[in-house]
Amino acid sequence: MRIISTERSQVLAARISEKLGVPLAETKFTRFPDGEMYLRCGDLDDETLIVSSIVNNDMLVQTLLAIDAADRSRNTLVLPYLGYARQDRRFVPGEPISARAVARALSSGIERAFVVDVHDPGVLDYFGVPAKDITIAPAIGGYVGDLNLKNPLVLAPDEGAIEFAADVAAVGGWDCDFLQKTRLSGEEVRIAPKTVDVAGREVVIVDDIISTGGTLATAACMLREQGAASIHAACVHGVLASGAYTRLRAAGVSSVVSSDTYENASSFISAANAIATAITEDVHC
Ligand code: R5P
Repeated sequence: MRIISTERSQVLAARISEKLGVPLAETKFTRFPDGEMYLRCGDLDDETLIVSSIVNNDMLVQTLLAIDAADRSRNTLVLPYLGYARQDRRFVPGEPISARAVARALSSGIERAFVVDVHDPGVLDYFGVPAKDITIAPAIGGYVGDLNLKNPLVLAPDEGAIEFAADVAAVGGWDCDFLQKTRLSGEEVRIAPKTVDVAGREVVIVDDIISTGGTLATAACMLREQGAASIHAACVHGVLASGAYTRLRAAGVSSVVSSDTYENASSFISAANAIATAITEDVHC
């Protein structure tokens, strides 16, 4: 078995390689003069683990190329971050179900797929091969523990994230609650006041994705007004679009941390252990 990765998942791929004791195959990435992408994998074996976060359209194309390059082996696709997953249904007539389009395209040439904390597990059904979701809520809980906060309160920014927040809070037996969010536009949300007694509490807001940071920045402002002693933010996928990191820090969030499913400077939490465990325990092996 060999592990290959696309360009934006190299660090996580190397960590998974260490956890599994499976060698990495070097992959080189270039472009043709017209901008089209090219890659070349080193020696592969009869089984390949392809690690690729779909963080943008280029990574989607690189993933398709990597799967094709490994066409002589049995392939497992690990999608730490599945871009387009939030367009998981047709909200208005004429739209694509983008998550379905991406899942279908990626299903060709692989035997199974793994995703990490996918926005909605219903997306798994769009794959044409067995697909599983892996949660790194325990790893996020480990990070919260490392903060050494006094009696922290773990908050989900909306009801949809309450299960994830509960799994994070379970690590330390911390209090857990959620806020109610109404989305006003692509970048703006309103957090309706809810009966959460945050006065004097050290709060950690957790979510699957921080994209523009609008959700958490709004929550942080409200929590500050309610007298929270400190506010931290932790998420799985740190997309950090549109200046989200500075937006959150400016909103009074003391620390903003994400995982290596979306590699960037805030990726202090690793999904490698959870991914390696899921692959090892999968009946396929
Ligand atoms: C939405 O339901 C997700 O769980 C996140 O809350 C959302 O994607 C975050 O987006 P943003 O950072 O742009 O508010």
